[in-house]
Amino acid sequence: MARLLARIVAMNDGWARPLGEFNRRWVSAIFRPIRPIKDLLNGRWLGHPLHAASTDLPIGLLLGAVVLDLVGQPAAADIVLLATIVTMLLAALAGLADYADTEGTALTRATTHSTLMVVALVLLVVSAILRAGAPADRTVPIALSIIGFLIVTAGAFVGGDVAYVLGNMVSRHAFRGAGTKWIKLDTGDVTELASLPEATPTKMRAGINDLVVVRLGGTVHALHAVCAHAGGPLNEGTIVDGCVECPWHASRFRLTDGLVRQGPSVYDQPSYEIRTAEGGGYEVRRNAVA
Ligand code: FES
Repeated sequence: MARLLARIVAMNDGWARPLGEFNRRWVSAIFRPIRPIKDLLNGRWLGHPLHAASTDLPIGLLLGAVVLDLVGQPAAADIVLLATIVTMLLAALAGLADYADTEGTALTRATTHSTLMVVALVLLVVSAILRAGAPADRTVPIALSIIGFLIVTAGAFVGGDVAYVLGNMVSRHAFRGAGTKWIKLDTGDVTELASLPEATPTKMRAGINDLVVVRLGGTVHALHAVCAHAGGPLNEGTIVDGCVECPWHASRFRLTDGLVRQGPSVYDQPSYEIRTAEGGGYEVRRNAVA
């Protein structure tokens, strides 16, 4: 069953891939000048992707509308259907904000997901319009709602894959332990951290982790070098207002503690404490997760 469903989803990649590339260009162009609104829709303020949190509402409401129709409560069904349409549009806006920074197979599958949702939304809007005419026979609008619900369910299945199978909008540090052990910092050719060029990201290594180390004035900061959003190399980023900005989608993380200050990341970046090691050189320890 699982393989069959995966094959059915993958069969759509042929049309979804080019459509996704095309869509992402205009979606990114719309959001680029309104980054604070995009941040809001990504869910940075929530510390959680807003799209994932907002989709349950229209799905639950739509199920309610279908049930109310089936048990002969037309007035209540019509109101709940309208609420479904409004909340679907809001969830879609949040999804678009994530879509703007989605790439590869995740973008292709997100395109299949969003296309299904748009088709369902159109059916639901037509259903609502037909209902507004108070028809004596409600068979067609009810059938449209039921078909819309089935398409939404299929769309939710594909959307789930985008997060759970492909890891889109999942923190790249979800499985990284927050150990409290001091680890030797491999500084490469740098002997004194105080001699690092000012505000210049430098890649160093601590155990299996790549860190981005930055000196600002008399203080040296260290964050994990792999961006929490989608794995971009922060050591290739730029320093802006005390933050390191990711070169891939411009998330910003505060150097002092890794706090995310600009999306699309909704997750903070692991930060590290640095000290001089007893035997010479330096060692680091991950700061506790707040
Ligand atoms: S990988 Fe997307 S902002 Fe860093």
